[in-house]
Amino acid sequence: MSRKIANLTRRQQSAADPILDDINASIDFDRHLFRQDVAASRAHAAMLAKQGIITADDARKIAHGLDTILSEIESGRFKFKRALEDIHMNVESRLTELIGPAAGRLHTARSRNDQIATDFRLWIRETIDSVDAALAGYQRALVEKALEHAATVMPGFTHLQVAQPVTFGHHLLAYVEMASRDRGRFADARKRANFCPLGAAALAGTAFPVDRAMTAKALGFTAPMTNSLDAVSDRDFVLETLAAAAITAVHLSRFAEEIVIWCSPLVGFISLSDRFTTGSSIMPQKRNPDAAELVRAKTGRIVGALEALLIVLKGLPLAYQKDMQEDKEGAMDAFSALSVSIAAMTGMVRDMTANVARMHQAAGMGYSTATDLADWLVREHQMPFREAHHVTARIVAKAAAQNVPLHQLPLTAMQAIEKRITKDVYAVLSVENSVRSRTSHGGTAPKNVRRAANRWLKILAKGQ
Ligand code: ARG
Repeated sequence: MSRKIANLTRRQQSAADPILDDINASIDFDRHLFRQDVAASRAHAAMLAKQGIITADDARKIAHGLDTILSEIESGRFKFKRALEDIHMNVESRLTELIGPAAGRLHTARSRNDQIATDFRLWIRETIDSVDAALAGYQRALVEKALEHAATVMPGFTHLQVAQPVTFGHHLLAYVEMASRDRGRFADARKRANFCPLGAAALAGTAFPVDRAMTAKALGFTAPMTNSLDAVSDRDFVLETLAAAAITAVHLSRFAEEIVIWCSPLVGFISLSDRFTTGSSIMPQKRNPDAAELVRAKTGRIVGALEALLIVLKGLPLAYQKDMQEDKEGAMDAFSALSVSIAAMTGMVRDMTANVARMHQAAGMGYSTATDLADWLVREHQMPFREAHHVTARIVAKAAAQNVPLHQLPLTAMQAIEKRITKDVYAVLSVENSVRSRTSHGGTAPKNVRRAANRWLKILAKGQ
């Protein structure tokens, strides 16, 4: 039976070489599209009946048979056959077993080319929705942690050198902003992806009086795609979604790298519990941040999937080419890597404990409040910033020579460099005062962090 159906797609008289089956068959991965395939077939059959292209009776049989197939697949009773090549032929073959000749009418006015384009758009749409929900959960975890640490001082870095004190909450909220743009990119991709190829048939459209608006609507698409050649050959929707995934993965990877650094005993800003660390088989003292390392590493395959598909599509003439079948495995793998990465990052954010004392100590290292001293000179003595910068550099050099932090340098030592300096300057030299003073829009002040975090909580509670 299965061979016979498979041969329906072959003009050839003799059997295919097994190697052709190996390279050609897509059932091992497009079986994951069974829900979408059945949904699209149901919509197509209903439309064919409404347009009088098949009888209502045949449409009913088809719908019933498709329901049976769906429950067979969901319960694991369905036997996928490689000889039947793909999900479409597997479903159709089983439908023939179940309802007889009426099954053969389902493929009227369509082709596997518009079928797969439709199935995969539906899959991408659902994937975007679940990534979006996961990213919202990740943002919530970050915002809650940020609120808890709105006033926790840590060093802010440039060039991985201690630059200026910042608050830990502010640092975490930076990743909330990134995730928000990531979600925006997915939402944009979803808007453009949500058009229906069904009815484009093989490439040229069909002579049957199909109602493409009806199938598009039934499947939740905005509208049918306008050009049949484009409909079967466009894979931008996968590219755009993978691009959004790649950028998201890069963002997660940057944060994962920070977690690895922060967990190192050399830095010691945070610790992860046993729930998110592994031990070493040889060094009993080790607590390794494996999850963070793997998030960092999984970025490779996610970015790789985007690159691979760009290369597949480059140079493909219109319309459908079998090359396009290569869009699925990479994307499916990329999205499972992305969702486990988002889940792991969310878990680690919730799990991490900040070592507040250690962060505070490190925040004062490297003369991190030097800018505050320069700003003070500008503010209190109307000194041009360039000159204040110069004076401050000399004071920092003096403190370094005496091996003391700025706030422990005696006033007389400062006055020897700039006589207008008074004891009031010490108020700006502490890390707390430094962060408290950064109240400019988007600045690190605890008050700003609380405001921003509360704003995010409201946005996220609205399901946005
Ligand atoms: N498995 C194919 C794909 O993923 C389905 C479309 C097959 N079309 C064809 N003319 N062989 O692209």
